[in-house]
Amino acid sequence: MNEGACDPGALPPPCFFLREARSNASCRSFSRLSRNMPLFGISKEAAVGTAVLGVVAAAGFFAGVFTGYNTLNMALVIPDDGKVVACDVNEESANLGKPVWKEAGVEHKIDLRIKPASQTLDELLSNGEAGTFDFAFIDADKEGYNDYYEKCLQLIRKGGIIAIDNVLLSGKVLNPERYGGEVQSMHELNKKIFRDPRVTISMILMGDGVTLAFKL
Ligand SMILES: C[S@@+](CC[C@H](N)C(=O)[O-])C[C@H]1O[C@@H](n2cnc3c(N)ncnc32)[C@H](O)[C@@H]1O
Repeated sequence: MNEGACDPGALPPPCFFLREARSNASCRSFSRLSRNMPLFGISKEAAVGTAVLGVVAAAGFFAGVFTGYNTLNMALVIPDDGKVVACDVNEESANLGKPVWKEAGVEHKIDLRIKPASQTLDELLSNGEAGTFDFAFIDADKEGYNDYYEKCLQLIRKGGIIAIDNVLLSGKVLNPERYGGEVQSMHELNKKIFRDPRVTISMILMGDGVTLAFKL
């Protein structure tokens, strides 16, 4: 773990807070509010994967916070003076994560912005922050992914990583003509990233598929 990252002697281990984020009362009440949306499409392996990636990062961007599970995961592993800019359009769900971020002692690392991902990225870029982020995680509305990918490529430094979640969409990406909409968009983005000379990629076949794009 990086120097300055969550001190294991001072707090319970990060997995304690991650478990809490998955099962706390707030999340349960949110699940009642959003019956048609799975609470977390995240496996234990995905959580560990994000954590390991976080170790190399001091500045991260999150598009799509929901109740803050993966934002917490990232904040737990970056150094104490690191930052995570996290955005979501749904303030109610994003606010549910805050008590756990505070309890975990990482609240000060998270800059939560209740704004569309596109606008948040535009603001970061026009604020001169291009090339200064180590890591970006894209997990918001699927039809916006291409725009977020292009802007995140500007935002991260060379050698930085963009993680793109749900690239399989339950296997529907194999049949884009049948489903159209977000499935077609994801299919097009997968094809583009596969041939994109600006990055080298790995696709992790766990959960709903995560592509890791390393900026060259
Ligand atoms: C699948 S959830 C994200 C799960 C989250 N990454 C986690 O670790 O639990 C997708 C989130 O994207 C948000 N979202 C939808 N459209 C958005 C947009 N244009 N900009 C930012 N967030 C958006 C939704 O409100 C929702 O909370």
